[in-house]
Amino acid sequence: MAEMVRKSSVDEILNHWILAGSCILLSITGFAFLFHLEPVSSVFGGVNTMKEVHNWGGVVFGLSLLYSMRHYLIDALEYDADDMQWFKVAGGYLSHKVTVPPMGKYNPGQKLYYLAIVVAGIAIAASGLVMWLLKDNASLLLLSHIVHNVAFIIFVLAVPVHIYLGTLANPGTFKLMVSGTLPLSEAKKRYPKWMKAAGKM
Ligand code: HEM
Repeated sequence: MAEMVRKSSVDEILNHWILAGSCILLSITGFAFLFHLEPVSSVFGGVNTMKEVHNWGGVVFGLSLLYSMRHYLIDALEYDADDMQWFKVAGGYLSHKVTVPPMGKYNPGQKLYYLAIVVAGIAIAASGLVMWLLKDNASLLLLSHIVHNVAFIIFVLAVPVHIYLGTLANPGTFKLMVSGTLPLSEAKKRYPKWMKAAGKM
């Protein structure tokens, strides 16, 4: 049997499902508020219950986002010369003629995606808490509505691209979200610098 390499720990996999599940629930209920989608709110037993689901879903999402920092934050803040070269060739996504430099555990696109999720996630959670708990301050409330909507646009643009890259665009990657492991031969091809650092090549 092929030797396997663990890329994601068990708590990382569970937290990713909580992050993804709460994000999707918040997006569905958020869209339903925005466009007054009554068929969706009736699934939740009415607008008021849907609001409760959205608020508490936001708490789960915020806590899960904070927990994710122990898995990705350090990697997401470090960029070397190969990462800079990766940006120059757009990760090889726009042309097959370019040479994509060797990568570590995460490519710079994934690192930037994570940082965007952290910034937009903190903004959306903080503004959501203000709208939930501090309803008396009109100007703060207005600012929170604007921040919440702008951050939501970032999620709507970034998350579908992430899902596409994690499934259809890179077959086999989705398995990482379930088992957290991949064959050593595959890991050597995709993350040579990480494997080198781990003494596997
Ligand atoms: C439900 C659909 C989703 C799918 C199929 C999916 C798929 C994946 C996969 C396969 C990975 C592992 C990539 C690798 O290690 O090379 C991953 C990582 C990750 N996912 Fe997701 N994901 C989904 C939703 C989300 C959502 C909603 C968020 C955040 C709001 C998110 C945040 C992350 C982060 C931060 C990582 C680690 C760093 C990165 O790969 O960018 N994911 N995802």
